[in-house]
Amino acid sequence: MKINYPPKFNLANIPTPLQKIKYKNRNFLIKRDDLTGSLLSGNKVRKLEYLLHEAKRKRTDYIFTCGGEQSNHARSVVIAAKKLGFKVKLFLWGKDSQSAQGNLFLDKFFGAEISYLNKENYIDVNYIMQEEAEALKKKGKKVYVIPEGGSNALGIWGYISFVDELRKQVDLKNIEGILSASGSGGTAAGLLVGVSLLKLPVKIYAVNVLYSKDLIIKKILNSAEGCIREFNLPCKLNETKLEVLYGFSKEGYKKIEKKKLKLIKHFAQSSGILLDPAYTGKAFAAYYENFLMKKKGMKVIFIHTGGMFGAFAKNKEYLAV
Ligand SMILES: Cc1ncc(COP(=O)(O)O)c(C=O)c1O
Repeated sequence: MKINYPPKFNLANIPTPLQKIKYKNRNFLIKRDDLTGSLLSGNKVRKLEYLLHEAKRKRTDYIFTCGGEQSNHARSVVIAAKKLGFKVKLFLWGKDSQSAQGNLFLDKFFGAEISYLNKENYIDVNYIMQEEAEALKKKGKKVYVIPEGGSNALGIWGYISFVDELRKQVDLKNIEGILSASGSGGTAAGLLVGVSLLKLPVKIYAVNVLYSKDLIIKKILNSAEGCIREFNLPCKLNETKLEVLYGFSKEGYKKIEKKKLKLIKHFAQSSGILLDPAYTGKAFAAYYENFLMKKKGMKVIFIHTGGMFGAFAKNKEYLAV
């Protein structure tokens, strides 16, 4: 089946490699979306190819977006937007720091304007962004607001196309599932639409790191259904194709327990691959327990969705294990 894609920029180095890795004497398949770029690495750039193209078509002056202070999405927006000539404003949950590390360092270095919000105010971040956008509109400026994680009907095309890319690398009829960390849910939503559209018998495993199990299911299905509706796609969602593996971020989104850090370190020293503390480290813990240890690594593909700069922001914790 040929998919009719919306127009996009080419910002990501794709296709990313699908590698066979041996860890603890067990083989598994890892899709290296941490290699979509250098500063623009990770899953977000795939969504931004579509979103920023729309922003350009709309002759936007400013890009607004939001996330945590170590948001990989926010960092990707800043770098891609600067490359394409937009001004950027971020609305971040967290605090400013003169010695900013990781993603926040890059946001500042690349010249993003930043508004810092506490946890309470961040609940209203969409309203806050819209209000500021309205104020700029009155001054004759155009603002394009990208929601958290770039996860809307257009952004998730990044992971519909991922499935199309993956099926050229492996026979997906022999694969039982694809596993990814899930923050705003857009990656899982795109994967779900992708496998439905291409009628593939593959399950999507989402490891929730930010929202509760019920909320992430709602978010993933809303984004997926919204995309099918908005683009009039010839497929129906099969909700049983989605499974949330929960309980792998009990320590909280901004924290990571020692046991997972030890796994990240051991995996890094045996494979040369670095996982991040907020997303891929937790997703890998779920993958390790549910599939790798059960010798199902060649049947379920682990997506490394990037996030490397988050590790630099936690360098003391990484070194302490
Ligand atoms: C490194 C990394 N992995 C996974 C995710 C989750 O992606 P999504 O927000 O599409 O669920 C994010 C962002 O939230 C991320 O930065």
